[in-house]
Amino acid sequence: MSQLFRKKTIDQLLEEADSGHGLKRVLSGSNLVTLGIGAIIGAGIFVLSGQVAAQHAGPAIVLSFILSGVACALAGLCYAEFASMIPISGSAYTYAYATMGEFVAWIIGWDLILEYLFAASTVAVGWSGYMVSFLHDFGLNIPPEFTAATGSKLVNIPGEGWKLLTHNLVQLLQERSINIEALQHTTAILNLPAIIIVAIVTTLLVIGIKESANVNMLMVILKVFVIVTFIVLGFFFVNAAHWTPFIPTNTGKFGEFGFSGIFRGAAVIFFAYIGFDAVSTASQEAKNPKRDMPVGILGSLGISTILYILVALVLTGVVSYKLLNVPDPIAVAVNAMGPKMFWLRPIIKIAAIAGLSSVILVMLMGQPRIFYSMSNDGLLPPIFKKTHPKFKTPYVSSIITGILAMIIAGVTPIDILGELVSIGTLLAFCIVCMGVLILRYKEPNAPRAFKTPGLPYVPILGVLVCFVQMLVLPFDTWLRLIIWMVIGFLIYFLYSRKNSKLAK
Ligand code: ALA
Repeated sequence: MSQLFRKKTIDQLLEEADSGHGLKRVLSGSNLVTLGIGAIIGAGIFVLSGQVAAQHAGPAIVLSFILSGVACALAGLCYAEFASMIPISGSAYTYAYATMGEFVAWIIGWDLILEYLFAASTVAVGWSGYMVSFLHDFGLNIPPEFTAATGSKLVNIPGEGWKLLTHNLVQLLQERSINIEALQHTTAILNLPAIIIVAIVTTLLVIGIKESANVNMLMVILKVFVIVTFIVLGFFFVNAAHWTPFIPTNTGKFGEFGFSGIFRGAAVIFFAYIGFDAVSTASQEAKNPKRDMPVGILGSLGISTILYILVALVLTGVVSYKLLNVPDPIAVAVNAMGPKMFWLRPIIKIAAIAGLSSVILVMLMGQPRIFYSMSNDGLLPPIFKKTHPKFKTPYVSSIITGILAMIIAGVTPIDILGELVSIGTLLAFCIVCMGVLILRYKEPNAPRAFKTPGLPYVPILGVLVCFVQMLVLPFDTWLRLIIWMVIGFLIYFLYSRKNSKLAK
């Protein structure tokens, strides 16, 4: 039993940090903020925001964003303490190894796959939505069978093109007295653009693309420029009638509008904030992690939160939330601004596509790195830490990650993916918040460059808020999380426990 709770000491970890794995300390505080924004702003705002407004919260998605932002701020403060204290790239996995022992570290490492691998796949599906829409504007139409998850039903709406046949769309068509049966329809085979983007990014990662701070900066400038443009111009097209009622009446089902809809919406839209913790995986490459990690984590989170709240206001003010259950809600809102604004469409789409690509890149970079850390500790087979003799990249784990991401992105509907990523990340946040509390009591004198304020309330509140957000996610999502964890336990007990380096 005690084996399950064997821990790495802070000294052991700091030694590993210094031995460095060949990583260079080159990133400044502002690099880390842009890295954070690069990883944060993506499919959450460009894709899921529409679904949350249409299915759960209506215009009150603004409140969902605020709620979720508060939960992330609590977790972000805890991440900041750990990242300034243990500057190692394994992120939450490493923090758990130091505080709660190997088994919890394994749980979190396994859970982080849901965050990084599945998030990359989700964002790839979002990328596909924007790409299909972008090409359609230029008269290039990918056959609908190859634009959505396997088995999804699509209908061709005159004047609007092929759309996923969702519950909301059915309702909408009924409201417009359109006979669905009379429309041309088809069943999707797979999401080809999503597979292609993952393949391209994976290839780049294998041949050793160095995502230089400048390239990342460029992506972030483009993304932020687009979002600010959308906010500023969009405000002129807001029709306040779209905001009434601000909180649509609950349909009678938990999570469908009303107050429960705001909470369910917060849990789903939480996806939009994921990525600030990716800053902590760059700990080993930060020039001055003690000072800059908290700046990077909290700075990127703060900027993104403000942008999100403003986008949510404009989005639901420009177009009825009922029309937003689409893969490209921002593009739909621009369409609703009328022909005078059509020039903005391609710009928005190009920047969204570039922005989503950078999220996929960061996520697909992060995942092999976590596999690498786990393999280094003996919890995964040594093949995962194999580096390419010429390219010096962890190419085997990158390829495995890429293939898995392609399969997931190609065949799974985006709402299932997004919720699974959210529940997995929320679990990681709960564990990190608990870890901060535990380490304060167990090692009160260890040096901490950044201290989470308001102890013990902030971490306790962090755990509670994240856990409540997990609770309001649908039962199916919990079931998938449980199945995922059971698979993880089996691997731990059959392989990792025996091969752990710490054990030896
Ligand atoms: N927060 C990232 C996104 O929204 C994962 O794409």
